[in-house]
Amino acid sequence: MVDFAVLPSFSQQVALPRNLLFFMHLLLLLLPGEMNSEEVRVVGPGESILALVGEEVEFSCHLSPYLDAEDMEIRWFRSRTSDVVHLYQGRQELYSQQMAQFQNRTKLLKDDIMDGSVNLQLLSIIPADEGLYGCRFLSSNFSREAVWELEVAGM
Ligand SMILES: *[C@@H]1O[C@H](CO)[C@@H](O)[C@H](O)[C@H]1NC(C)=O
Ligand SMILES: *[C@@H]1O[C@H](CO)[C@@H](O)[C@H](O)[C@H]1NC(C)=O
Repeated sequence: MVDFAVLPSFSQQVALPRNLLFFMHLLLLLLPGEMNSEEVRVVGPGESILALVGEEVEFSCHLSPYLDAEDMEIRWFRSRTSDVVHLYQGRQELYSQQMAQFQNRTKLLKDDIMDGSVNLQLLSIIPADEGLYGCRFLSSNFSREAVWELEVAGM
């Protein structure tokens, strides 16, 4: 405003930079989303966790930084994403693709899903549960996963 008063004849030219400022603001509004999508990651239960035959184990997965995951697909899987341990999609749990091995043995704790945090309980551990697991968070513009190894003791 002070500049306008000092240089009134430049007011026409000043209008252009103000438009540029507007576009730069737009960019700043759009860019953080893009950058977040690079920075957001899934934190799993750790590199390797141990379970005992007959006991239960909990697979905790959360987005970091915390993001609402209620409308995302969250898929726990064995070595491949098509090997479904537990599937949350469209705000509900879908069992049609679940591997027979995990039927009636999974329980999803999703009280904190709006903070991007979910826990999957696997009950009555059997030796065949040993191996590689992962959880994947998926939405239209986002896909991230964490993987870990489950070791089973007491075989
Ligand atoms: C994905 O899109 C939604 C809605 O269009 C937006 O709110 C969200 O910030 C985006 N997420 C990322 C990680 O870019
Ligand atoms: C899971 O539970 C349902 C209903 O109780 C039962 O019909 C089904 O046989 C069970 N599946 C396994 C693999 O135990």
